Amino acid sequence: MKWLILLLLVPSCLAHLNVYLSVAEVMRLLGLTAELFYVRDGQINVYALNFVVPVPATINELHFTWQSLTRKPLPYTLSAEVKSNSEAMHPPTFNISNEGYVPTEPQTWRVDLPCMRTIAAEVDLTISLNVSTGSSSTTLHFRRKKICLKEAIRPAVRVDSVPHAPTSADIFYAGSGCAGGIILIAAIAAAACRARARKLRRARSDEQDAHAFLPDSSCKSAASYTSYRRPTSLPAVAAEERARDLQQRIAELTIQRCRVRLRSVAMEGTFGRVYRGTYADEEAREQEVLVKTVAEHASQVQVSLLLQEGCMLYGLHHERVLSVLGVSIEDQTAPFLLYPWDAGWRNMKLFLLACRGVTIGGAPGGAPPPPLTTQHVVRMALHALDGLLYLHSQHVLHKDIAARNCIVDENLRVMIADNALSRDLFPADYHCLGDNENRPIKWLALEALTKRQFSPAADVWALGVLLWELTTLAHQPYAEVDPFEVAAYLRDGYRLQQPANCPDELFAVMAYCWAMSPDDRPTLPQLQIFLRDFHTQLTRFV
Ligand SMILES: *[C@@H]1O[C@H](CO)[C@@H](O)[C@H](O)[C@H]1NC(C)=O
Ligand SMILES: *[C@@H]1O[C@H](CO)[C@@H](O)[C@H](O)[C@H]1NC(C)=O
Repeated sequence: MKWLILLLLVPSCLAHLNVYLSVAEVMRLLGLTAELFYVRDGQINVYALNFVVPVPATINELHFTWQSLTRKPLPYTLSAEVKSNSEAMHPPTFNISNEGYVPTEPQTWRVDLPCMRTIAAEVDLTISLNVSTGSSSTTLHFRRKKICLKEAIRPAVRVDSVPHAPTSADIFYAGSGCAGGIILIAAIAAAACRARARKLRRARSDEQDAHAFLPDSSCKSAASYTSYRRPTSLPAVAAEERARDLQQRIAELTIQRCRVRLRSVAMEGTFGRVYRGTYADEEAREQEVLVKTVAEHASQVQVSLLLQEGCMLYGLHHERVLSVLGVSIEDQTAPFLLYPWDAGWRNMKLFLLACRGVTIGGAPGGAPPPPLTTQHVVRMALHALDGLLYLHSQHVLHKDIAARNCIVDENLRVMIADNALSRDLFPADYHCLGDNENRPIKWLALEALTKRQFSPAADVWALGVLLWELTTLAHQPYAEVDPFEVAAYLRDGYRLQQPANCPDELFAVMAYCWAMSPDDRPTLPQLQIFLRDFHTQLTRFV
């Protein structure tokens, strides 16, 4: 109840202030694409303030952004106090003055956390910000737990990547950091919820005025922020709506875990697990679902990736796209992602392998599927193309088109899914090139691989590789090429070889997708026309 009371005490002076962590800062600390508001338009996110944010050993400075939304001067005082293990860290310093006025333009300031490096310790510290107007003043406390190590350590790595070989620093960090990060995700979701609740209140302001600071009762716990919404009832998605940030998506998608029943493990990786199960909605109607989750030993980064990648296709509705149905973050170490499912559906890579008589990753064998004809293959490719065409029309680049990220039903209809957990479930398809980022190297277009440039044309390249996977029944692309050599190999003009039994016309299309310059690759509509024509020709001969 503490935060509720604190919310009631929010003085009106703070109604004209923003204090937040920018997208870049949240990405750096937690690997999430989101802003974290401590104060948004005066509303204090006490939920977020209450959590101790772990600061890994690799990060030695914190950035805060603030802005006064009023033209009246807003005086502040800043201080930082080391609460424990002060022998491990010098007093933190700010790169702005300890007192002054909050600027009316957004300003980012920095807190330096200078570890002494003489001992290893977890240092608890509090950064206090006191803002006053007229007679009243409010103090906000930002609590951090900084990991200090003994020796100098490597510079910060990109946090949006899966750590490959954990260093001692990572292990040290994992114990104290994991829960904190997830709690913060919950806090982000809570903030989004309150922002929405406020909007709602504004809409009904006449009746609600007296209780302007009372939090909506539906926001009390992570489980009940929002009721589950059937995706089919959502209105058509506008492009701008697609751009909503992750926190909003998580808040909107949150469902109660008690409504989910797990039945059997469908796939299992090192830290990721996929279950079949059922979901019961408010009216107790059950539906089949697929559940993606991580094991309890998963790192914070892996959890963040699960949520981020799992929410990638949220809000998109197309018969060739499988998007997430719900999220549960009640268990902070192992969030759930739910997808609509059907008994006959299968992961396309596993399906193709089964066509060859190969099973991997604990996938149930089942009856071997009937042999695939070229006609089947072209039709399946056309389905994937339809899905991708739709994603691009919604201004979404998939960036990881591959058989492993597609679903196929018993009538060989294909859907594109997100790539959450794919790194873990198909480890052979992802590689690190010494940069700690696990990427689908052999599906990436040259410019995506070397310059990290993604465009619709990079998705077209990957679609070409998908076509190759279909015709080879999921052989590994460039099996003989070392991942480190792939860029040079492609630059020298080498490409995947024509699969046996693959008609020349079809291989020509693939090769066209792998043109060096993105501008030289076919567009999806061009590809669609060609594949349709080719499909028609094939049916004519049957
Ligand atoms: C303080 O540091 C931040 C982040 O490094 C920087 O963006 C900002 O310009 C600095 N401000 C001042 C006054 O030096
Ligand atoms: C905040 O600053 C004002 C003005 O300097 C001071 O009067 C007040 O006591 C401070 N509040 C707290 C809680 O430190």
